[in-house]
Parts: sequence; structure tokens; C-alpha cells
Amino acid sequence: MRRAISAGLTLALLMAVAVGGGGLNPAPIKAVEVFHRKCSSCHGKEGTMLERGFEQKYASASELREVVESMPGAIGMRTDELETMVAYMRAISRGEPFLIWTVRGATAIEGEVSPGDSKVQARVQKRTLKVVRPDANRWRIELPKDVKLADVEITAQRGASRATLRLREAPYSHTK
Ligand code: HEC
Repeated sequence: MRRAISAGLTLALLMAVAVGGGGLNPAPIKAVEVFHRKCSSCHGKEGTMLERGFEQKYASASELREVVESMPGAIGMRTDELETMVAYMRAISRGEPFLIWTVRGATAIEGEVSPGDSKVQARVQKRTLKVVRPDANRWRIELPKDVKLADVEITAQRGASRATLRLREAPYSHTK
């Protein structure tokens, strides 16, 4: 019985990996919204009260993840969700805009940007796509029918710093 259950679980996992590897999927959480709800009371709106460069205090990505994991607002977060929050933390530490893709609709994709006063642009090869901002921290892009998600490149610019998100590579910036 137990073996049957674990075989079933393994199969489900394999299928999840297959689906994740084949298509492109949005991030597991809305990092900017989650931070706003669960973390900003202590760290300020969009992390303004976190010390610039704090990332350097941690020897490795896993150490940084452990700190995030120990935070009151991180209780119950899965590893992939924590990784997403850690990416956002890297952007804050570096003073760079953070970009994340969070929703895949039938004809549009949606995501977040932080800080909210960053300028967001999107393109596919040489063609510019229209970006709508439902509010400061969100963006929405209608995808023309002939556009492949894997070719979409989104940039966020704020002063001299810039982040680039290529959906073919990852659903959010600052993965490293
Ligand atoms: C109740 C207040 C509180 C909340 C809520 C909170 N933190 Fe923290 N956080 C702290 C304190 C205090 C420290 C510094 C002490 C430490 O490193 O444990 C800290 C440290 C950190 C650091 C390391 C900063 C540095 O300078 O080393 C990060 C990154 C961080 N928090 C992220 C988060 C995230 C992400 C959330 C939400 C999921 C969160 N925190 C929620 C209080 C909080």
C-alpha cells in the first residue's frame, strides 16, 4: 500500500517536472505583493528599511535563504516560494529593479515590478509590446497571437539601474 502511494507520488512529481520543463510557467508567488503584506511592516515599503548591500553578509545563496526562511512572514513557505522571495531580496540589496511574471492568461501575461516607479518595457525580437500598469507595482502585456512566450523580453529601468527578464530563462529576475 505504502509503496503504491509513493509510486503514485513519484509519478505525479515526474509529471510536474515534465510540465515545468516543457512549457514556461509563471513564478509560484507574487513576491512583491507577499512582501508588502507580510514583510513591509518591519522592512519598509519595497524593502526601503533593509540595508543596501546586506546580501554580502551571507556567504552563499542558501544562507540568505535561511535568513528569509526564519522570518515571521515566511512560515509555511515552500522552497520554490522562498527562492522567489530570495531573488526579490537580492534586487533590494543591489538597489536594482525587480521583475517577476506571475499570471499566464489566455491572451495576456501579468507580473510585478518593484520599485513601482520603474519604467517597464517589453519586446519580442525588434518589436515593442504594449505594457499596461494596473497599479504601480503591476504590469500587464497583451500578447499578439503570433508571439511566443519564450521570445518575450521585459526590462525595468530606474535611474541608471536596469533589470532584464527573459521568460525563456526564468519567471523572475535576480535568480543569482
Ligand atoms: C516582525 C518583524 C519582521 C518581519 C515581519 C520580517 N522580518 Fe525580516 N528581519 C527582521 C529582523 C529583526 C531582522 C534582523 C535580524 C536577523 O537577521 O534575524 C530581519 C532580517 C531580514 C533579512 C536580512 C537583512 C540583513 O541586513 O541581513 C532579510 C533579507 C529579511 N529579513 C527578509 C524578510 C522577508 C522576506 C520577510 C517576509 C517574508 C521578513 N523579513 C519579515 C524582522 C522582520
